[in-house]
Amino acid sequence: MASYDLFHKGTKAFVYGNQLRAVQRMLDFDYMCRKDAPSVVGLITPEQGGFEKFFWGTKEIVIHRFRKVQDAVKAHPEADTVVNFASERSAYACTKEMLETESIRVVAVIAEGVPERNARELRLLAKQRGKWLIGPATVGGIKAGCFRIGNTAGTLENIRECKLYRPGSVGFVAKSGGLSNEAYNIVARNTDGIYEGIAIGGDAYPGSGLLDHLLRYEADPNVKMMVCLGELGGREEYDIVEALQQKKLTKPLVIWVTGTCAPMLAGGVQFGHAGAKADSASEGAQAKNAALKKAGAVVPNSFDDYDQKIHETYEELKRKGVIKPAPEFDPPPIPMDYADALKRGLVRKPTNFMSTICDERGEVHNYCGVPMDEVIKQDYGIGGVIGLLWFKKKLPKYACDFIELVIQIIADHGPAVSGAHNTIVTARAGKGLIESLISGLVTIGPRFGGAVNGAADHFRLGLNKKLGPREFVEYMKQQNINIQGIGHRLHSVDNPDARVEIMIAFARKHFPRTPVLDYALSVADVTSRKKNNLILNVDGCIGVLFVDLLLAIGYSDQDIQKLTDMGFFNAVFLLGRSIGFMGHYFDQKRLNQGLFRHPLDDILYDVPAAPESVD
Ligand code: ACO
Ligand code: LMR
Repeated sequence: MASYDLFHKGTKAFVYGNQLRAVQRMLDFDYMCRKDAPSVVGLITPEQGGFEKFFWGTKEIVIHRFRKVQDAVKAHPEADTVVNFASERSAYACTKEMLETESIRVVAVIAEGVPERNARELRLLAKQRGKWLIGPATVGGIKAGCFRIGNTAGTLENIRECKLYRPGSVGFVAKSGGLSNEAYNIVARNTDGIYEGIAIGGDAYPGSGLLDHLLRYEADPNVKMMVCLGELGGREEYDIVEALQQKKLTKPLVIWVTGTCAPMLAGGVQFGHAGAKADSASEGAQAKNAALKKAGAVVPNSFDDYDQKIHETYEELKRKGVIKPAPEFDPPPIPMDYADALKRGLVRKPTNFMSTICDERGEVHNYCGVPMDEVIKQDYGIGGVIGLLWFKKKLPKYACDFIELVIQIIADHGPAVSGAHNTIVTARAGKGLIESLISGLVTIGPRFGGAVNGAADHFRLGLNKKLGPREFVEYMKQQNINIQGIGHRLHSVDNPDARVEIMIAFARKHFPRTPVLDYALSVADVTSRKKNNLILNVDGCIGVLFVDLLLAIGYSDQDIQKLTDMGFFNAVFLLGRSIGFMGHYFDQKRLNQGLFRHPLDDILYDVPAAPESVD
């Protein structure tokens, strides 16, 4: 790389600071220039390690984070540039370290407000070490088709419009990043485009001056003409005057010093940049423009004909054959970020998920359209919430009360039942709440607790087949199927289950009708004559009463069949009994009970003397 080059197509850089959007913009520029690989090889973020994902076209790539400059440099000795987004408080220290690092050659300091003393020290250090410092207080710069500093030149649309994805013939330098972006547009419209554009920053002591970059362009054979935007305040432009007079600058230079309106404003007005204040007439824009014109630069009469002078100069060079317009180049499209495209209504995609029971996106999360605060205000209760989330209905009060009744009476049935037993054993094995709860829940099935759904199915089957109780019992016996909801290990005709009696009493009082319960009771009347524990058990009672309830609120038999097909009717047992299982878990933990091992005298060992041999 020649001494006048700051960047080339293979430039590798670090970005200091958590500026993920700026990094993505640099990568998108690289991709648009059809570069083989990204220019950014590392993020330096003292507060965070790890890595970040970015897009490379439509693919994703990983760029690692480094907490220290030296770690980044060690991992990527090929990187010679740093885009430094450190704040004005920390910019000095880290920039100094970068300039003192052998492999780092160019540093762009973005921060505004870097103390002048620090800026002057950094400028001196860069010069002493033969390094390039751009800024502070700059957006950076861009080498068309090669390398973009951070956010320079704004959106990808602007980059495309200014043809910055391929080199033109114009070397540009200014103080202001904003005006630079504007100038890239002007140059693109009036020439074959920018070769390189640098914004040196608006502070009084920039790390490199306007003339420094113009001299680079003078030396670079790819630059055929130079365009510059100066600013009132300071004496930089007089260095350019002197260089013109000394023939150090011989290529055509179109330059305008902004701020000619200052004399019309009251007293030494301070423009946007720290350095933009004329302390004497010679520092004023008029004086500078006059001196530049006298020294041979192409100076327009006002900013209004700046573009015209650029165009005339370009056309003259083209006519002389000095400029052969840059070959056109069709940059690849840069995919728009999905979120941006969605916001603009440019993309749509089928959803992968669907919810019809609740929506958390609004100001207040809602259950089936009822905002949470309304659920509480209108006192929906657990039964009402189950109505909204399970049935998607605002259930009548008796239905809500029934659901809450069932949850209360089914919550537990002692430590001996299989589910509670499993929870206890798992808790005593030192497992946590979730595992112990799951261990209990997995025992719920066709024999214990999981017969609610089966009962809803079986008794409707008997009714729908119009089988009398005795016929139904016979029919199921022939199928060799135990009727779900019939039978109990503990309760019997002589030891009725109070829970069943409570539910039946509630239903008799509040349900409009109970055809399925009545049918189940008539069946139990038959079975319990055979064996007195073959009563309608709690699962059966819950199942048939839920069917009676749904029929009463307008569900059809088909609707109910769909619910039994999904095992719906077991839900309330699962919900209620989880309360008891967790109670047993907490109880065991409080008791600090040790590992349970089944007593040997409770196990019948019937082991053969030897295994059967299989040839
Ligand atoms: N339907 C028809 N006949 C039955 C039923 C039934 N639900 N349950 C038992 N029997 C018969 C058996 O076929 C057997 O007849 P057999 O002597 O002619 O062979 C006899 O009664 C004894 O059967 P067991 O299974 O030994 O009876 P046990 O009292 O042990 O069974 C159990 C209790 C497991 C609950 C059983 O009745 C059953 O499986 N019921 C259906 C599932 C059910 O409802 N479970 C929920 C229980 S409540 C709860 O878990 C909260
Ligand atoms: C229960 O509710 O767990 C019981 O009805 C089952 C049982 O075995 O007691």
